[in-house]
Amino acid sequence: MMLASKIQRRAFSASARNLSKVAVLGASGGIGQPLSLLMKLNPRVTELAVYDIRGGPGVAADLSHINTKSSVKGYDPTPAGLAAAIKGSEVVLIPAGVPRKPGMDRDDLFNTNASIVRDLAKAVAESAPEAKLLIISNPVNSTVPICAEVFKARGVYNPKTLFGVTTLDVVRASRFVSEIKGTDPKDENITVIGGHSGATIVPLFSQSNHPDLSSNAELVHRVQFGGDEVVKAKDGAGSATLSMAMAGARMAESVLRASQGEKGVIEPAFVDSPLFKDQGIDFFSSRVELGPNGIEKIHPVGNIDAVEQKLLEACLGDLKKNIEKGVAFVASNP
Ligand code: NAI
Repeated sequence: MMLASKIQRRAFSASARNLSKVAVLGASGGIGQPLSLLMKLNPRVTELAVYDIRGGPGVAADLSHINTKSSVKGYDPTPAGLAAAIKGSEVVLIPAGVPRKPGMDRDDLFNTNASIVRDLAKAVAESAPEAKLLIISNPVNSTVPICAEVFKARGVYNPKTLFGVTTLDVVRASRFVSEIKGTDPKDENITVIGGHSGATIVPLFSQSNHPDLSSNAELVHRVQFGGDEVVKAKDGAGSATLSMAMAGARMAESVLRASQGEKGVIEPAFVDSPLFKDQGIDFFSSRVELGPNGIEKIHPVGNIDAVEQKLLEACLGDLKKNIEKGVAFVASNP
């Protein structure tokens, strides 16, 4: 009897480790729908929570017919619905908010998205403060500090579980390089550091297979402003959604792999970082090693060349302002 219950307990705890609920907040949007689809297709996800201020249950009903094992549930756009969607999540992804239109930069989204992200962060702080929180909503350079402030105000801030998703910059860099060099993008690992908008995006080609590319100003510009190509081509209908969903799903998958015990999982992400704190910059994107509890180790920038050094200096100036703007927003709009 005792042995049986011991075995049962062990079996339970083994499977509990692999139970992974993922919540998507903003799941009916241009990013939210394909991102939720990719999460439904991911065998690491056991339960998918679909939340939006409109259309969540419809997206969930649609996804729930896909014949993968995970359960899917859509939630009503009420405080109780939001709390239930978040509760028990290992990973919470936030792609809620408005996207850019032609002529806008990401900072132009601040006025609308800052309060959306603040309110969703409050709900996460209440219902799943231990979840890994992945912020996609722009401007990421400001929305991530906003989340940190919300968590700090509630005494539940854990810098190891908050991530700004910059994966799309890395995805773009490897794709663009492979086009120039005629290589397979999967072999092109380009580290991108800094933040996630314009001049704050700093690709480090000197650390790649093609160190010569750091002097290719056109390529550097394309990585920094690649999002504009999509905004322009969509002509008012939004910004990157499909490539972003892929990038967000890759980041979530990496976080889950590490949560489930895999070692050596590294992704660049915009996180609470010691690297430039002496210059008053509390958040920075560099290569981040993931573990069961979130961030395990933040890698330093490493050796960079003179061109990249200049880019980094420009990045730090902008980044500081973007971060301060987020912090100030929560101070005056708690
Ligand atoms: P979208 O307008 O198609 O979808 C946004 C969704 O958020 C809508 O379904 C809307 O109903 C929902 N929403 C709004 N307020 C909400 C709230 N309080 N709670 C829950 N849901 C809410 O926009 P799209 O194209 O999906 O973009 C979303 C965000 O992602 C934008 O801020 C965009 O700038 C950002 N983005 C970030 C990228 C990155 O690399 N981190 C890349 C591309 C876009």
